[in-house]
Amino acid sequence: MISINKTIVSASLLACDFSSLAYESERCAKAGVDWIHFDVMDGHFVEQITYGSAVLKSIDKVTDKFMDVHLMVDNPERQIPLFARAGADLIDVHVESSRDIFGCLEEIRAFGIKSAVAVKPNTPVEEAFKYLPLCDMVLVMTVEPGYGGQSFMTNMLPKITKLREYADKNGFSDLDIQVDGGVNVRTAKLARKAGANVLVAGTGLFGAADMNAVCAALKGI
Ligand code: DX5
Ligand code: ZN
Repeated sequence: MISINKTIVSASLLACDFSSLAYESERCAKAGVDWIHFDVMDGHFVEQITYGSAVLKSIDKVTDKFMDVHLMVDNPERQIPLFARAGADLIDVHVESSRDIFGCLEEIRAFGIKSAVAVKPNTPVEEAFKYLPLCDMVLVMTVEPGYGGQSFMTNMLPKITKLREYADKNGFSDLDIQVDGGVNVRTAKLARKAGANVLVAGTGLFGAADMNAVCAALKGI
């Protein structure tokens, strides 16, 4: 029996209309999402470049939603203070992006915000186990990081279950497990069953005819 944590829905702004970031942030907040997922890409760790802490600072002024910052950058150490001061409520660093993940997590927590590690599809989930004492959450990527609108990788489901079972057995039963990439109502059901409880949706929400209905459906899973 794995622990069942509360379902949290986090809207990825990567899928929104960037010419109306304030409006889109308010729109998803009104639709009932719990968190806003802020995908930071530097053109090195992943191919695309998205937005930085200056943009987060502006968005943080127009919404009081929990800001879930996903750093897909080389040398995340340099970005942590910038995003923490710009309004991040959680910062997530990829285990593949730094030689000092423990230092990154300690730095994030020193700002009094939540900390998380992320693992890419080809990274074994065991890579995250040693960091759990310093993590509020682990992000299991269900697509290759870098782009929205990709299909959910169902071969990631056993990784989620292995992580949830390890966390339950080793005193981390309140760990949040986030899935990110290709999440919709169908794939979210699979992810929840596997043990994830934080659902990041970009295209699934911003591409929906009725964002409110999709958000309600995701929250009900
Ligand atoms: C991809 C990002 C994801 C992505 C999710 O690198 O980390 O957050 O934006 O978008 P969808 O839900 O469209 O796959
Ligand atoms: Zn993301």
